[in-house]
Amino acid sequence: MGVSGAIADLAPLLGDRLTTAQALRAAHGGNETWFPETLPDAVAFPESTEEVAAILRACNAHGCPVVAHGAGTSLEGHHLAVRGGISLDMGRMNRVLAVNAEDLNAVVQPGLTREGLNEELRATGLFFPVDPGANASLGGMAATRASGTTAVRYGTMRENVLALEAVMADGTVIRAGSRARKSSTGYDLAHLLIGSEGTLGIITELTLRLQGIPEAVSAATCRFDTVEDAVNCVILTIQSGIPMARIEFADGMMVRGFNNLMEAGLPEMPHLFVEFHGSPAGVREQAESFGEIAAEFGAEAFRWTDLAEERNALWKMRHNAHYATGTLEPGKRTVSTDACVPISRLAEAVTGAQAELARLGLVATIVGHVGDGNFHCSVRFDPGDADEVARVHAFTDGLARQALALGGTVSGEHGIGQGKIKFMAAEHGPALGFMRAIKTGFDPKNILNPGKLLPEDC
Ligand code: LAC
Ligand code: ZN
Repeated sequence: MGVSGAIADLAPLLGDRLTTAQALRAAHGGNETWFPETLPDAVAFPESTEEVAAILRACNAHGCPVVAHGAGTSLEGHHLAVRGGISLDMGRMNRVLAVNAEDLNAVVQPGLTREGLNEELRATGLFFPVDPGANASLGGMAATRASGTTAVRYGTMRENVLALEAVMADGTVIRAGSRARKSSTGYDLAHLLIGSEGTLGIITELTLRLQGIPEAVSAATCRFDTVEDAVNCVILTIQSGIPMARIEFADGMMVRGFNNLMEAGLPEMPHLFVEFHGSPAGVREQAESFGEIAAEFGAEAFRWTDLAEERNALWKMRHNAHYATGTLEPGKRTVSTDACVPISRLAEAVTGAQAELARLGLVATIVGHVGDGNFHCSVRFDPGDADEVARVHAFTDGLARQALALGGTVSGEHGIGQGKIKFMAAEHGPALGFMRAIKTGFDPKNILNPGKLLPEDC
């Protein structure tokens, strides 16, 4: 069979860095959300691009699935080996290879985490802005086209990867992109691989765009009487062109979770958490403009801070949204959804979601990178309660359909993985056939993360 043949070929090369030990398989078979435990047959720990290439050559020869594994923080089951095979743990390829401060970029290995990179950049005055909350691996973030709280200002992984090296299904090593800021040469394979969820190639090196740490940073929280007021404030803020560095929404239930987990001491009402980056004068001006708009929508209880520790505490709280949701309805699990709509339709999308949750009698938090029109509903449910599970599915399916009806997408951030495959046809229509053609061209034996991203029948 495929796996045993690949293991036999690779054992001499990898030694104990290729293992079928139960504990390591289990450590690569879990997930942060609602997918069942799915153990790979084996786990490999490559230490170089050459080893990744050798693994793919062997797996391609034996038809053995290969599923890349970064920090395991994805929320749609991307890293689970649903067809068995080898989990490729990229954690040992975690070095910063170069910091080109004069070009504002860094070359890194994919197993490095975003916090690890920012730690390494500390002395340089530069930072890497993409921040999905979890301390995800940069390779995983590129593979899932991750974003997060700062995308409204700095963009997603799409805007922040200049170039990459990848190993293709047959073991060929390619480079796509360059250290130049732009290029008009040929198909943009770098951006095709970004967001391909490990189905087209395994990323082994990334050249990432860096930013200068802003001279001044100011953050604030404020609360609103209604969800509509908070979201309409966001819409007008974005339409006014204020260059928000972060503008995050949390509904009353989310705030209850923050209070439970972090003793936040906030009233359980809709909130916005905002941040401004720039020169001291620029930040002051942006903050004033935002304050005026927020006042129009009845914002109250502004808490401003310029202090790094207070800002860190604020964003730590926000980053813990998933775990804060876990404090509600103890003993249940969380389905974390993700929808993204044009900013002008955001209020109806969020209030529509809230009405549906109430109608279906579900306990959920709503939180979002609302400056991008992106929000998450995280629903608590008991996997043993078939009726509740059915209501959760009714809700998540309805939310996805609503996002499409409003001209949006079924995922702005979390990706397709296993959870959203069923919506690919509705979102992409005939374009899906071209995606399938790309997949078949890149990976004819379907060894790269099979069972993800594309439906079987497209
Ligand atoms: C967040 C994750 C769930 O925004 O995407 O907290
Ligand atoms: Zn998010």
